[in-house]
Amino acid sequence: MVKIFVTRNLPGEAIAKLKKKHTVQIYPKDKVIPRKKLLKGVKWCDVLLCLLTDKIDKEVIDANPNLKMISNYAVGFNNIDVKYATEKGIPITNTPGQAIVDAVAEHTFALMLAVSKRVVEADTFTRKKKYRGWSPTLLMGTELTGKTLGIIGLGRIGTGVAERAGHGLGMKVIYHDVRRDKKFEKKYKAQFVPLNKLLKNSDFITLHVPLLKSTRHLIGAKELKMMKKTSFLINTSRGPVVDEKALVSALKKRQIAGAGLDVYEFEPKLAPGLTRLQNVVLTPHIASATIEARSEMAWDAVNNILAVLSGKKAAKTVNPEVYKKNNK
Ligand code: GLV
Ligand code: GLV
Repeated sequence: MVKIFVTRNLPGEAIAKLKKKHTVQIYPKDKVIPRKKLLKGVKWCDVLLCLLTDKIDKEVIDANPNLKMISNYAVGFNNIDVKYATEKGIPITNTPGQAIVDAVAEHTFALMLAVSKRVVEADTFTRKKKYRGWSPTLLMGTELTGKTLGIIGLGRIGTGVAERAGHGLGMKVIYHDVRRDKKFEKKYKAQFVPLNKLLKNSDFITLHVPLLKSTRHLIGAKELKMMKKTSFLINTSRGPVVDEKALVSALKKRQIAGAGLDVYEFEPKLAPGLTRLQNVVLTPHIASATIEARSEMAWDAVNNILAVLSGKKAAKTVNPEVYKKNNK
């Protein structure tokens, strides 16, 4: 029996399946596991099932020289020192299933619609009993139809957003990525543009890049200045992709019209002043928090483990080069 350490209880039935075949220990509290307990769990286990809130650095990886694999319960894996784990021959898996793609794409629109139609402001207004009767100018917002959506990062989530924007809302899609995808361009009548052109021409900009050295502060003061005064920025990727302090300043000065954020540079902390702004809609990193996505993620995390333990390659491996290396 293999020993599996799970850093937090997960929704759905997947963990029960793991328990039938293996010895599973779960950190019992519903909060981020303290560092000491994480190190202890890693020392004890053969396989680690962790979350994006667990920092899996050299110290954690070195805590157990026999660690067989790391199964991350997330699409993103910037919480893990991938380079070091790869050097050590440890496979890392993630959970980029269809449900999470759909959930995050939908949440992107939830934010886009909420901020452009001032849904949160309007809800507060109504609850405060300020509604005295219909008015031609009350809480006027902006339409998405016919507007230009700039997608930065065209992975599966970016593509899911393009699909909904183009086919569902009649938006014009432009995108920027490190790679061009001509098939995508044809299918969604989308146009590839350099980043500065995307910033200048979009009415809505949405971020779907992973957090890498090259994407940290991809959107800073300079980029915000290039955006239209009437444009909105949506971030459901990773907080540090945006310089949050610069964003607060741009929103305050109305350099851009608004923002919809699900992730934060120093989360769970928020940049000073952010919560005092009216032109921003804030959600607490819940873009993938649908019943569908969160239980699919648990199944993916578990199935990735079962695949590796049975000597196969897990379908969703972040560093597939380790399989080659380990078979040498
Ligand atoms: C959520 O942010 C994820 O990476 O799954
Ligand atoms: C608005 O309620 C309208 O009827 O135009």
